[in-house]
Amino acid sequence: MQIIVKKDHEEISRTVAEHIAAFINKNPGSLINLAAGDTPLRAYEKLIELQRDGGVDLSSAYYVGLDEWVGLGYAVRGSCAQVMQDGFYRPAGIDPSRICAFDGTADVKGECEKVSDFISAHGGIGLTVLGVGMNGHIGFNEPRYVCDDTNESGDAEEIVGLCRIVTLDEVTRAVSVKYFDSPQPVKQGVTVSLETLVGARQVILMATGAKKSEIMNRVINGEKSEAVPASMLKDHQGLVVCVDEAVGL
Ligand code: F6R
Repeated sequence: MQIIVKKDHEEISRTVAEHIAAFINKNPGSLINLAAGDTPLRAYEKLIELQRDGGVDLSSAYYVGLDEWVGLGYAVRGSCAQVMQDGFYRPAGIDPSRICAFDGTADVKGECEKVSDFISAHGGIGLTVLGVGMNGHIGFNEPRYVCDDTNESGDAEEIVGLCRIVTLDEVTRAVSVKYFDSPQPVKQGVTVSLETLVGARQVILMATGAKKSEIMNRVINGEKSEAVPASMLKDHQGLVVCVDEAVGL
């Protein structure tokens, strides 16, 4: 594992953008998996700037969405589809045929199959860029508090192909209000599964701000455990952890 610490969100965003660009330049035609959420958005803007300056051709890659709130689609501001479409894919000029993302308003199992097929058709995920939830989740792979495949609320999760349908953790539901203009009754999520993410060739795990300090210290310095899903990446040979000084690693 490589850990990169930069002064602030702006600087680490530049570093993340440079890493993504370097990966795409070295591996044209590979599949890139990008998280939505607040943390990586500035890195995506910087990646688009790099493309404008001739540093990368983003249209040489393929893209697969990481996750979505079940019930929400592009029409809802704050959905993963809206954030990624307006924050990255459209301004980057990516042809829609090169993108596959969950539609949270469609049949959820069908969406898992669609995304799984796309990942398989492109030889697996080349690079995944992940944020970390306040509870340690990556994508919507929520913590497992007990060892019998149930989450805190006791609901079983369902694996469909390379994806997972989950009951959202209370922490995730509480944090979700920051993304939406009006309250959204989000209860379930659909996500590329933890196992699939661990199988990516390279992983960037990005976190910024003092609020991520406690969970990132558990991820890096604590036990590897499904109670902290991001910690399951720790032995990954291609893991690059990108944080700002406020995280305090
Ligand atoms: C979003 C996603 C989530 C976020 C995480 C951190 O697509 O997969 O796992 O990366 O919840 O969110 P922010 O960056 O808003 O703190």
